[in-house]
Amino acid sequence: MARDPQVTDALRAKVRGELREVEEIRDPDLREKVIEVWALAIARSSFTSIGEIAPSGNPGVMTLKRGNQVDHLRGVARLAMGMADELTASFPELEVDRDIVIAGALCHDVGKPWEFDPENRKRWESNPRAAGLPSVRHPAYGAHLCFTVGLPEEVAHCATGHSGEGELIVRSLENTIVHHADHAFWNIMHAGDMIVPESVPGRKHVD
Ligand SMILES: [Fe+2]
Repeated sequence: MARDPQVTDALRAKVRGELREVEEIRDPDLREKVIEVWALAIARSSFTSIGEIAPSGNPGVMTLKRGNQVDHLRGVARLAMGMADELTASFPELEVDRDIVIAGALCHDVGKPWEFDPENRKRWESNPRAAGLPSVRHPAYGAHLCFTVGLPEEVAHCATGHSGEGELIVRSLENTIVHHADHAFWNIMHAGDMIVPESVPGRKHVD
């Protein structure tokens, strides 16, 4: 596994404590890489933990009235596991890789520390025509981080294709579950009046 010198054991321990569903992953190598990719994402940002990141779908869009990104990631991971477990119980021939579902759900938004970083936002917003606004959205940046730490492409695919970007490609079975768990999270919270009204876009949420 590619280890970045910016990533400390203290940061790895913090990530492990925030994303408790990581312990459900059976493959120890995959488990460690999920922790590593989030630790790297945080180390390369202005944030010091996942819990510092606002609970939004996109910066300033679909913001929960309370909580943070940890609540979103854990919620999506548990919803995705629930979908996978329920459907494989009824249809055992459904070939779902449960480890990839969990890793994909936990990593789907691993690019958010980049896209939500206040310093990046300030730079992009000051001159959108220089490098774009944002220069790279979280799905693509997340896939970049996944490959950087040596996560399998099945997990990188969940990062890059859970969102609107996934409409341009064919989603894997596991990413289809992650994509619907992610949308279910935001749509159900919206229906339950758990989203700050001013942050709700005028169109159907796509991320
Ligand atoms: Fe998400």
